[in-house]
Amino acid sequence: MPKLTLNKAVFPVAGLGTRFLPATKAQPKEMLPVVDKPLIQYAVEEAYSAGIRHMIFVTGRNKRAIEDHFDTAYELENELEMAEKHALLALVRSVQPDDMNFAFVRQPRSLGLGHAVLCAEHLVGNEPFAVLLADDLMVGPASGPSVLAQMAAQFEQLQQSILAVQEVPLEQTRRYGIVAGQDVGPGLMKVQKIVEKPAPELAPSRMGVAGRYLLTPAIFKHIRSQTAGVGGELQLTDGISSLLAEETVYALQYQGKRYDCGSKEGFLEATVELALQHPEVGQQFRRYLSGLKLD
Ligand code: UTP
Repeated sequence: MPKLTLNKAVFPVAGLGTRFLPATKAQPKEMLPVVDKPLIQYAVEEAYSAGIRHMIFVTGRNKRAIEDHFDTAYELENELEMAEKHALLALVRSVQPDDMNFAFVRQPRSLGLGHAVLCAEHLVGNEPFAVLLADDLMVGPASGPSVLAQMAAQFEQLQQSILAVQEVPLEQTRRYGIVAGQDVGPGLMKVQKIVEKPAPELAPSRMGVAGRYLLTPAIFKHIRSQTAGVGGELQLTDGISSLLAEETVYALQYQGKRYDCGSKEGFLEATVELALQHPEVGQQFRRYLSGLKLD
């Protein structure tokens, strides 16, 4: 069989972002900036670093800003060009490299992550693809590969679906899809079970799924076969659980760090830690923080 290659990434950005109201009343949470870049741009750059060039966004109401961000900003670019602000012009244009292309599809109602992925089916076709939840900001190890690039490297060999996982505190299992299975290599597990947001006493392990997935196209029919849960939502986790009966699914314990930027705490942690590493503001920000009296 010819080797499968990853060419496409799906970014479900149609959620309501209720944990971040009122900031997300009229703007998408994926456009919230961590230091100077919106969350969605971090995720798109991560997909690009994994060799992916086709970016598919599943958008909803109030998400226009995402389309504009990845479009040419004609007036702005013109102004910068006239003012010979070459560095800024290059920065603006770097958001949308020439070899990257974008497609947008609407999810008419927030009917769950599984439903959002189904909305992209006709754009993905019969190919493996990545799903990135931009509100999980993932930072790979210093000067190492990004989290999605680590997964893509595994995919080259395994040619099967792979979920990014991390060990989570027992009291937080309710926030994650939790997987259990058999270790088959360093940081690599064959998934035998996946449960959406179990209570700690019901969790089959402490391995929680982070917002990065590599999926084979068989997932679509397994999502479709699910019955909608609370609020009419279709869960991706349930689709993956059903996929287990047909295909092997792996879980990779990635190297790096995840910030849950859909929550205020995670967003603040990301802002502080990435600001400290930022080439322009890092040193000054460090001095500012160390001068703060915190008690
Ligand atoms: P979340 O549950 O974290 O996102 O979904 P949310 O609904 O926007 O946020 P809260 O919980 O109300 O604060 C995870 C990801 O799935 C997308 C979201 O945009 C987010 O990236 N999503 C979720 C959709 O695209 N469609 C949906 O119907 C649900």
